Amino acid sequence: MNKNFQFVPKHYAARTHEKMQEVLMDPTAIGPSIHYYMIRGDMKNNRGNNITVWEPGIVGREYIKTYGHYHVGRLDETYKFISGQGIALLQKLAVDKSGNMIPDVVEEFKAIPVKVGDELFIPAGYGHLVANTGLDFLVTSDDSPVNFEEVNPASLPGHADYELVKQMRGFAYYVVENNGNPALVKNKLYKEIRKSELSGLPVI
Ligand SMILES: [Fe+2]
Repeated sequence: MNKNFQFVPKHYAARTHEKMQEVLMDPTAIGPSIHYYMIRGDMKNNRGNNITVWEPGIVGREYIKTYGHYHVGRLDETYKFISGQGIALLQKLAVDKSGNMIPDVVEEFKAIPVKVGDELFIPAGYGHLVANTGLDFLVTSDDSPVNFEEVNPASLPGHADYELVKQMRGFAYYVVENNGNPALVKNKLYKEIRKSELSGLPVI
């Protein structure tokens, strides 16, 4: 064990069904009490990357997913897929003349199938979430920073902006189960999606 290892308070959090209702395709659908679990690392103390564990399952028609967020500032992130399979959604919002993001206009949207062994680079500026499309837990490791001086570093870290996703009730598409396979359903609250790469996933 590294001699710098220290026990870190507040490093664990769980995303509840109640919180996820803000961004579900069907907020009235029944789901597990916890959708996913977050263990935050602490690179300064050599505790390594963050770990996220998704429950398997479907809520309404939608696969269990992370809430989704944009990064505050120019911060990229790399996800490593340790177990399971899923579909990562990346979206970059259009900006107005002042450089502010327009919540309901997507400049670029990507749906990317991912599985154990894959690495996914998320460039700065791209909102991101991952849906668990497998029958078992999905587990990832990521390198986003955590500041344990914050009020709520594990559940709502300061580098992440969840408000734009909350306002739009999720991303531009929802990942749903359709006859045993993943498909996409457009989120009607978005006015425009200028460019999209859907990796052959059907839109239903
Ligand atoms: Fe992130």
